[in-house]
Amino acid sequence: MSVETVSLAAYLIAALLFIRALAGLSRHETASAGNYFGIAGMAVALAATVLVAGHFAISTLGVVLLALAVVAGASIGLWRARVVAMTQIPELIALFHSFVGLAAVLVGWDGYLSVERRPFGPPAIHLKLLGTYGVHHGEVFIGVFIGAVTFTGSIIAFLKLSARIKSAPLMLPGRNRLNLGALAVFVGLTVWFIVHPALLPLVIVTLLALALGLHLVASIGGGDMPVVVSMLNSYSGWAAAASGFLLNNDLLIVTGALVGSSGAYLSYIMCQAMNRSFISVIAGGFGLEAPSSAAQDLGEYREISVEETAELLAHAGSVIITPGYGMAVAQAQHGVAELTRKLRDRGVTVRFGIHPVAGRLPGHMNVLLAEAKVPYDIVLEMDEINDDFPDTDVVLVIGANDTVNPAAMEDPGSPIAGMPVLHVWEAGQVIVFKRSMASGYAGVPNPLFYRENTAMLFGDARVRVEDLLKAL
Ligand code: TAP
Repeated sequence: MSVETVSLAAYLIAALLFIRALAGLSRHETASAGNYFGIAGMAVALAATVLVAGHFAISTLGVVLLALAVVAGASIGLWRARVVAMTQIPELIALFHSFVGLAAVLVGWDGYLSVERRPFGPPAIHLKLLGTYGVHHGEVFIGVFIGAVTFTGSIIAFLKLSARIKSAPLMLPGRNRLNLGALAVFVGLTVWFIVHPALLPLVIVTLLALALGLHLVASIGGGDMPVVVSMLNSYSGWAAAASGFLLNNDLLIVTGALVGSSGAYLSYIMCQAMNRSFISVIAGGFGLEAPSSAAQDLGEYREISVEETAELLAHAGSVIITPGYGMAVAQAQHGVAELTRKLRDRGVTVRFGIHPVAGRLPGHMNVLLAEAKVPYDIVLEMDEINDDFPDTDVVLVIGANDTVNPAAMEDPGSPIAGMPVLHVWEAGQVIVFKRSMASGYAGVPNPLFYRENTAMLFGDARVRVEDLLKAL
């Protein structure tokens, strides 16, 4: 069997494994199997790629460089995966996307330099014969464009998510016109390049796309960042697919298309979860307006002690826990799981209400609760549980803020107006676990804290939950 046949078969198997991985990751019960399918697919793909590279064309120096790159990349990857905190995953993902973008730019440039600007003789004969020469120009150009947008966009997303730069949106005058203008220039440059593949349009499009990626993400702020991360995920997939066309690598095309379309679908789901249109997210500016309720007097808030909370829980028939980012930061999930077991042993009905964007990445809360061995069947999505709050005695809001903010429904002037939220305030009593009266990720004040049936239990969520366990 030739190396080509082996590599083709390996690529097909890897593509099928990736599809199994995505299918597995869509449900809690199969998520870890999905992960293993993904790892297996990547191992097969990497082995086949190294085999092909070793077999064809490349020199001994090339093999050494390849081995060095694999060892260095794998070591950095293993180290990062071991030290990264769950709450830092979005920024790590953003950084990964920037690598994909950069790789697509380099592949595009290499495609140009090795075909259109071949030092020896005319362009590759087979391309001319097949009439695909113009298609190749298009692939180079589009690959470089998507790659460069992904590269700078992801770097800005990384800087914002890791709080290295401010997350407030950059509001240049006429920013939508700037973006649309850049797209129009790109279309014009593409036509130019396909007709006449000169260096100049490629240089211009590279610079234009780098600036566009930077501007696109810099002008998006606050609560829209989750959508931006999944949007960049999608872009990185399309950038990889474009590289696949250029390198004539079927696996890269299939994988890129899988990542591109699943990222686009995730962005769509997240936009729906936040009741935002995709266009309004891209247009940016969210989180900039002065929060309207800030000017209002929200009234007095009430504090509650651990003992009083334990007393309330001891007499409750039904409890809903709505976790948020603060539970993840405090690593309170194990205490929360223990609390759930204790209450259930006493005959209290305990369920969890999970907002689709609770925490810092979709599914964040589900992963933490699964890790702490909370049974799946009591962990419900927002839509499944929202009608049950009026019949619930006590709601424990553990480190959540924006996702339980009634202003989203009641204050049309609020920057998060229209975003679906968990209707916790409809329950008999709400206890909010947080350290201060500070706002959540979107920077919007929360009138929930001032409601008559709400009490604040201040302190680190993990410490407070442990205190509560002792008191119970
Ligand atoms: P947030 O609105 O961010 O609120 C979290 C709350 O946790 C804060 O108000 C904070 O208050 C509290 N907290 C922090 N550390 C704590 C600790 N150690 N112990 C107790 N409390 C602690 O969280 P959420 O309700 O989960 O909403 C998620 C938000 O993030 C949404 O706005 C959503 O759009 C956004 N989001 C962003 C991303 C990305 S990629 N960035 C992804 C998904 C969602 P104190 O400081 O007073 O303690």
